[in-house]
Amino acid sequence: MNNPKLNIAVIGTGGIVHAHMPGWIDSPYAQVVAGYDAHTPTLQGWGEKYGVTRLATNLDDILADKSIDAVDICVPNRAHAPIAIAALRAGKHVLCEKPLAPTPDEIRQMIAARDASGKMLMTAQHFRFTGHARALKAEIDAGALGPIYHARSWMLRRNFLPTRPGFIQQALSGGGVTVDIGVHILDLTLWMMGHPKPVSVSGSTRTVLARQPGAFTAWGENPRIPAEIDVEELATAFVRFDNGATLILEVSWMLHHDVAAGSAEDMRMWLYGERAGAAWPANEILSSNNETMQHYKSTLQIARQERKPHAQECLDFAKAILDGAPSPVPAEQSLQVITLLDAVYRSQREGAEIRL
Ligand SMILES: NC(=O)c1ccc[n+]([C@@H]2O[C@H](COP(=O)([O-])OP(=O)(O)OC[C@H]3O[C@@H](n4cnc5c(N)ncnc54)[C@H](O)[C@@H]3O)[C@@H](O)[C@H]2O)c1
Repeated sequence: MNNPKLNIAVIGTGGIVHAHMPGWIDSPYAQVVAGYDAHTPTLQGWGEKYGVTRLATNLDDILADKSIDAVDICVPNRAHAPIAIAALRAGKHVLCEKPLAPTPDEIRQMIAARDASGKMLMTAQHFRFTGHARALKAEIDAGALGPIYHARSWMLRRNFLPTRPGFIQQALSGGGVTVDIGVHILDLTLWMMGHPKPVSVSGSTRTVLARQPGAFTAWGENPRIPAEIDVEELATAFVRFDNGATLILEVSWMLHHDVAAGSAEDMRMWLYGERAGAAWPANEILSSNNETMQHYKSTLQIARQERKPHAQECLDFAKAILDGAPSPVPAEQSLQVITLLDAVYRSQREGAEIRL
């Protein structure tokens, strides 16, 4: 490959950026040359840790710098769209943390900015970049399940509500568990199903346990739930698609649900096809032979993946830009995810099924 490395600027150097950094350090495709964070001590700590000396004091310094090819956006959800749109208009490619934005309208504006700029816009949906997900997706694309006509997906945390303002204050996050981790399991499920078009959603959102006196969380250093929380801790939905398929979705930050010792959550997806079913992340394929009246269960072999998924997505983003390939996670697919999750909120407000 003769292309020089892409110059990357990180916007937001708080928590998740540390999972991205291994995907930039030693990358054959890119290097981090600058960073910006609204909180100067956080920015300085990040710069010292990774040896990045170009620490900007405002976003415009990054956007005006023609030598910067792309930005990696790791700020709270409500800040994604304005920063991404400004970066695209300034001619930068954009990798943006999930949710791409909390509302469909914001994503539509991001897509318009992308199209006007001709640059890449990719959502950091890291679960697509695990060896398990890639192996299962390849099996499904090869036809192992046949048409998928039903799915069940859940990401249920018993006691793992993030307490930072960027997650629990609507003004910063744009929603609670639905947009925080609902995007993970829903994105993965729709990807596996081949993105059928959702036509109706009946959903509910609740905040029950977090409001109880003495409520606590295992997330972070302080177990107490801040009184400022104004978002939901649980979301459920039943979805119909234009091809007749259905989906049951459940996500929680807090719920009296059993999770394995040492794990924060029970995260699973079942895909039921005409030929076989599949369980993720166990990656088991279940089928039946009607002639012999026998059931079969097999487990997919997973190729060992050198990098963790957050790092892999950064690598794949940069490689796709240099190769002139499409975005590994297209914004249109994130628009579909958020349109569906937005309908869950609308369904809760209206107490009725929403037709899309
Ligand atoms: N993919 C994953 O596994 C995963 C995990 C956690 C968080 N996230 C996503 O990453 C994003 C950030 O989450 P986090 O956990 O890193 O949050 P965080 O609060 O730890 O860090 C966010 C940083 O952004 C900075 N910031 C806030 N507004 C800013 C602005 N307008 N301009 C510049 N800097 C700003 C803050 O000072 C902070 O340092 C969120 O969208 C979240 O959904 C993804």
